[in-house]
Amino acid sequence: MATHFSLCLQIVIVFLCCTVCSADISCRNEAGEPVDWFVIYKLPRYKIGEVGSGVDYMYLDSSVRKWQMSKFTVNTSQGALGNTLNQLYMGKAYQSNSSVYALYNDAPPVLDYIQGYGHSKGVLLFDHSQGFWLLHSIPHFPWFPERGYLYPSSGKVNGQTALCVTYQYEQFLRIAKQLIYIYPRFYNCSVPAAFSANLPQLVQLCEGTKPSLAADKRVDQLFSIRGDKFVSFAKSEHFVDDIYTGWVAQVLDTDLLVETWQRQGHELPSNCSLPKHTMNTKRIQLPGSILFWSHYDHSKWCVSLAYEDQVTCLGDLNRERAQLWRGGGLVCSSNPLIYKAFRQIVDWYIGCGERHSR
Ligand SMILES: *[C@@H]1O[C@H](CO)[C@@H](O)[C@H](O)[C@H]1NC(C)=O
Ligand SMILES: *[C@@H]1O[C@H](CO)[C@@H](O)[C@H](O)[C@H]1NC(C)=O
Ligand SMILES: *[C@@H]1O[C@H](CO)[C@@H](O)[C@H](O)[C@H]1NC(C)=O
Ligand SMILES: *[C@@H]1O[C@H](CO)[C@@H](O)[C@H](O)[C@H]1NC(C)=O
Repeated sequence: MATHFSLCLQIVIVFLCCTVCSADISCRNEAGEPVDWFVIYKLPRYKIGEVGSGVDYMYLDSSVRKWQMSKFTVNTSQGALGNTLNQLYMGKAYQSNSSVYALYNDAPPVLDYIQGYGHSKGVLLFDHSQGFWLLHSIPHFPWFPERGYLYPSSGKVNGQTALCVTYQYEQFLRIAKQLIYIYPRFYNCSVPAAFSANLPQLVQLCEGTKPSLAADKRVDQLFSIRGDKFVSFAKSEHFVDDIYTGWVAQVLDTDLLVETWQRQGHELPSNCSLPKHTMNTKRIQLPGSILFWSHYDHSKWCVSLAYEDQVTCLGDLNRERAQLWRGGGLVCSSNPLIYKAFRQIVDWYIGCGERHSR
């Protein structure tokens, strides 16, 4: 009886220890707790009437419900980005053969820029149970795993966005099939043997080989761990068109207000030629009278003009001529909190023929 009891106790202790020690791989909030998704808006240094630090950011998830100024700065590992990436860095998941990871960026840290890859930036980290897919707009980020969390000084001047979503393992099989269209530059990655049979495309991307494609673009529905729908649009370099105008606005069947980084002289103007229009946002106003020009915003996102359509996308591509020929994607959500957060901050956009606000 006594031995039986002690055995039970041992099992209970081992079980409790395991649940505490091996926390599931997830997007992590500002306090380091697992969340279904979060969005970060890193503020530009140059705002209208004010020069900021270039490292402040606003944070959004389903529990804070509206943009919240972070008490951390993006160049320390304490906020949501650091908490999320530290699962790779501190946990040494990069040395593990029971998890997959990939760091990708057309402009990786240190290494030279190589033409031919998609214009896309992000991180994948998952095991056989679950993990996260982080999309972002920050060049030269994140750093190689051994060095740990580091925010590049080149990412301070302009505004930047990041979207992290937690998915079950099965969803990563779908994500891999989307990524081959984008053909991102995997500058550091690992797909251990136990995953390679299910994820041949990730093995190829990690080895630096270009997977063959059945079409020039592909759309798929992903579901976060809590069941929120995120639609992934992925285009290859062979679909030569503006992703917003030529594809996403028409598929979503809604006019889009698009915020992307447009260098002067290279920008695609607002476009009302097709049934659904895409209009360039020019000025953003975040809560707390944070006002800035799109010129200082390297973010890439869009929202439906009409409130009833309630769609928000974040992603890879700018409305720029040269990017018609690039691979890249968007992840779109109809979550009302995300929509409200982004739709409300459009302060001024350029319609076709006239100037509009809000
Ligand atoms: C973060 O960036 C700010 C502004 O450039 C700088 O003053 C601060 O020292 C940096 N902190 C770290 C930890 O790098
Ligand atoms: C995974 O790593 C562990 C510990 O390093 C090792 O014992 C095991 O054989 C490895 N498994 C595979 C499939 O390589
Ligand atoms: C990834 O980076 C680590 C150093 O942080 C290095 O040891 C490893 O070889 C790199 N892997 C690849 C595939 O480049
Ligand atoms: C609007 O976009 C479509 C699709 O990209 C393109 O074919 C058309 O030429 C554009 N119209 C103008 C006026 O730029």
